[in-house]
Amino acid sequence: MKEPLFSPVLEAYLEAHTSPEPELLAALNRETHSKVLSPRMLSGHTQGRFLSMVSHMIRPRHILEIGTYTGYAAICLAEGLQEGGTLHTIEINPERQSIVEKFISKAHMTACIKLHIGDALEIIPTLNISFDLVFIDADKKNNLTYYEMLLPKLSSGSFILIDNVLWSGKVLTEVKKNDGKTQHMMAFNQRIQEDERVENILLPLRDGLMVLRKK
Ligand SMILES: C[S@@+](CC[C@H](N)C(=O)[O-])C[C@H]1O[C@@H](n2cnc3c(N)ncnc32)[C@H](O)[C@@H]1O
Repeated sequence: MKEPLFSPVLEAYLEAHTSPEPELLAALNRETHSKVLSPRMLSGHTQGRFLSMVSHMIRPRHILEIGTYTGYAAICLAEGLQEGGTLHTIEINPERQSIVEKFISKAHMTACIKLHIGDALEIIPTLNISFDLVFIDADKKNNLTYYEMLLPKLSSGSFILIDNVLWSGKVLTEVKKNDGKTQHMMAFNQRIQEDERVENILLPLRDGLMVLRKK
């Protein structure tokens, strides 16, 4: 079990000074915590409102999310879509499908959110869509693969968000030789930092959110 990066006091202050979590998302948050394994995977109130804010700033026509889980971030991101826009979200675990579809329906977003059940590595190549905004939040070992699959296909000025890049703060300390996951995340962050095709900023939001703009 990973520890939160920030103190509960700071987290509470951030939440208290962020627009309230919409009631539907609060219900999804509660249901995920009571019925689904690993509820810490859900983006949650503060990060969810940030994703919604970013989406409203960009007003994307097409969004891709890799790693749906229970659909919380998908709904947040879809809030900022242009009229007639779509969000494609990919989830490998079919057990998540019913809760995701239930809450997409409650959010009246069935027309704009398309859930794909399967492995993102196989589904991404079948999506012949020019995405304006991508949220990478699935199996962290494949972060670089997803990034390299998608970046060449994005137009200049498109954005990518990548979650958990601070990896509970483990990237900040001396990494243990047998801790492959942290080594992987550190190498990925370094690769982004050296990539001249993008501008990037690492935000200390929740577990660390990398924000990239394709030049
Ligand atoms: C951190 S959760 C996503 C949380 C969600 N984005 C949110 O913020 O509410 C990661 C999800 O990625 C899914 N996943 C892992 N590997 C995947 C793959 N290869 N293709 C698609 N989904 C995958 C997991 O089953 C899990 O539900």
